[in-house]
Amino acid sequence: MMRTHTCAQATTKLSGKKVTLAGWVHSRRDHGGVIFIDLRDRYGITQIVFEPKHGKKVHSQSESLRREFVIQVTGVVRARKKGMENPKLQTGQVELLVDELNILNTSEVVPIEIDDRKVANEDMRLKYRYLDLRRPQMHYNLITRHKIIQSAREYFYKNGFIEVETPMLAKSTPEGARDYLVPSRVQQGKFFALPQSPQLFKQLLMVAGMDRYVQIVKCFRDEDLRADRQPEFTQIDLEMSFVDENDIYSIMEGMIVKIWKEVLGINIKTPFNRISYQESLNRFGTDRPDTRFGLELIDITQMSAKCDFSVFKNAAIEGGLVKCLNTVGGAGFSRKDIDELTELARIYGAKGLAWAKMTDKLEGTVAKFLSEEQQNSIIKITNAKKGDIIFFVADKNEQVVNDALANLRLEIAKRQNLIDDNKFEFLWVVDFPLVGWEEEEQRFMALHHPFTSPKDDHINLMHSDPKKVLAKAYDMVLNGTEIGGGSIRIHKREIQQKMFELLGITPDEAQAKFGFLLDAFKYGAPPHGGIAFGLDRLAAIITKNDSIREVIAFPKNKTAMSLMDGAPNVVDDKQLKELHLKLDFVKKK
Ligand code: AMO
Ligand code: AMP
Repeated sequence: MMRTHTCAQATTKLSGKKVTLAGWVHSRRDHGGVIFIDLRDRYGITQIVFEPKHGKKVHSQSESLRREFVIQVTGVVRARKKGMENPKLQTGQVELLVDELNILNTSEVVPIEIDDRKVANEDMRLKYRYLDLRRPQMHYNLITRHKIIQSAREYFYKNGFIEVETPMLAKSTPEGARDYLVPSRVQQGKFFALPQSPQLFKQLLMVAGMDRYVQIVKCFRDEDLRADRQPEFTQIDLEMSFVDENDIYSIMEGMIVKIWKEVLGINIKTPFNRISYQESLNRFGTDRPDTRFGLELIDITQMSAKCDFSVFKNAAIEGGLVKCLNTVGGAGFSRKDIDELTELARIYGAKGLAWAKMTDKLEGTVAKFLSEEQQNSIIKITNAKKGDIIFFVADKNEQVVNDALANLRLEIAKRQNLIDDNKFEFLWVVDFPLVGWEEEEQRFMALHHPFTSPKDDHINLMHSDPKKVLAKAYDMVLNGTEIGGGSIRIHKREIQQKMFELLGITPDEAQAKFGFLLDAFKYGAPPHGGIAFGLDRLAAIITKNDSIREVIAFPKNKTAMSLMDGAPNVVDDKQLKELHLKLDFVKKK
């Protein structure tokens, strides 16, 4: 071994002992000839000292040391001089007086600081990711992610799950995003799709009698990127046979309890609250509500139909929605705040943002158009107190109202400091509709995926009233993020057939796309269901990061590129030829 200890182990326990350490020069200070260096490794930092009077040769050797040189030092651990201790460091009481120095490698001046207090811009961080990852915060992020994986694996193995790997070169799966395609060289003109999830394979494993499957697996989706979306991301993916929704809930709650206990030392209470999709939309405007704070939305569509404010009235009469939310103590909001919030509402399609301020009565644009009776009932249902500001959005498209107010709710909570960072609010969102109507394509689409089972007593409605059919689907939501989603699946061919009909998928299409699954279902498929968790999202929340890029060693940027290695990249004409591909655009010079 090139060292006897790590840089975190040099504490008073080692005082007087001769040790050898290895690591990077984190910082260097010259105090009138005495050179102090903070030596850094994965475990911590130790202060090492070169004194001219202690060893002339090694001292003069040390003068060449610069930041990020890699060195090996041997010396005796001693207490620091009085007043020089650093109580913030585990090793802050001691230092190493160096007898021998071995420069293992030099370093050019680094383009970004290795310092959590001086984080570079994200492009630079991604370009020099290996340097960015040297920061203690990034070590913490990756080590925490590792602990989550370890904890989850242990949990599933103990509960009888077996880990099975499924193909990366596969056929297009039905999650609904765009596929990443891989051309086949051997099968001219044909393509593999990188899996959007192992969905069909894990169902086939149930047909194969595996009973309990788990996999920590990469998934690929070519979709618009956001802070919580990457083109390749990791799922904790599982499937179980002979189960219903409650079995899945309790298995997954057990995983969460174990991870939180082991990684954060926090006890999480189960069972988690459950809320129906419809109630979630009504109260929060979204199916992934952050329930760490109130600010719930209130539906005033009914009374709006009778008011004199045309914006509200028309939305109500045209079958739309009018909703409001009380900011509670919004008096702090300036004109500028309100303008900014209006802009935010517009991003989500709202045509405006009406507001009313509570003094002794309601004041503002809206109030003028409301009768006293209407004003009083708004005051009553919003529980408005002096100083509160109530915001309103009306639209004939319900989704616009919900989207705008859901996002406004989050922004207002941030501005009013209503979000407790140390709270973890878990929630099951249940009773999703089986299908939703796609206006553009004029057809029904599966809300989850086409293999999700309708509720047993709703099967009859699949043809008569599809919009009313609820699915055996569920999402786990944590602090406003969808961290997992899954369903009990259809295991009978007749119902699968009905589902395809509802989705406008012809028998031929179904056979071409999912024939292998349908064939498998002929041979005794057990009732089964499962779920997949977004590992990156879990890790980001546990490490208190806003973006999943912080918990992925080598992520893509917002334009789905890796700035470090320059992927995706142009390839040789020879490679294209082998793949029988021709590029159909003019190459830029
Ligand atoms: P779903 O599509 O809901 O379900 O995905 C499961 C979970 O994966 C995470 N996730 C993502 N994380 C980062 N970047 C992305 N682009 C991304 N997309 C999804 C989310 C989500 O909750 N096969 C089904 C699961 C099942 O039915 O068992 C599926 O993939 O946290
Ligand atoms: P206007 O009649 O367009 O001048 O709007 C009067 C007020 O109502 C302004 O404060 C607008 O921001 C607001 N407003 C306009 N359209 C809507 C809408 N669809 N929902 C809520 N408020 C709106």
